[in-house]
Amino acid sequence: DLGDADVGKVVFAKCIGCHQVGKRAENTIGPHLNGVFGRKAAGLDGFNYSKSLVRAGNSGLEWHADTLSAYIENPRAFASGTRMSFRGLKDSEDRANVIAYLRAFSDN
Ligand code: HEM
Repeated sequence: DLGDADVGKVVFAKCIGCHQVGKRAENTIGPHLNGVFGRKAAGLDGFNYSKSLVRAGNSGLEWHADTLSAYIENPRAFASGTRMSFRGLKDSEDRANVIAYLRAFSDN
């Protein structure tokens, strides 16, 4: 499912308290999510990630549609020790749509 970025923008309301995207995006409670596609997990300089996510990135975890979906569905089940305190998006359509939205802020 490729998802719908316009619907995903609405879903992103659940993320925006901690994450920014777009031209003026900054790291806040969470890292900004510009360019997240294809990047290694915990790969932004200047954000203080959990050891758990740093370890996952160093072990080869990269963010693509499948890994993003698994993380967003249940962050702690995917990376125990992650600092993302978010219960997760249980609806697969919501996940596909928000991932399509994020993709619009990535080059790959
Ligand atoms: C990390 C997505 C909701 C706080 C991340 C990462 C992604 C992501 C892709 C990894 C980024 C990277 O490796 O550079 C999302 C999406 C959300 C969401 C799509 C909504 C559906 C939230 C919420 C919070 C939050 C609501 C705060 C309550 C964080 C934090 C990290 C993180 C603190 C760093 C985790 C760590 O270092 O272990 N998020 N997030 N996120 N997110 Fe979220």
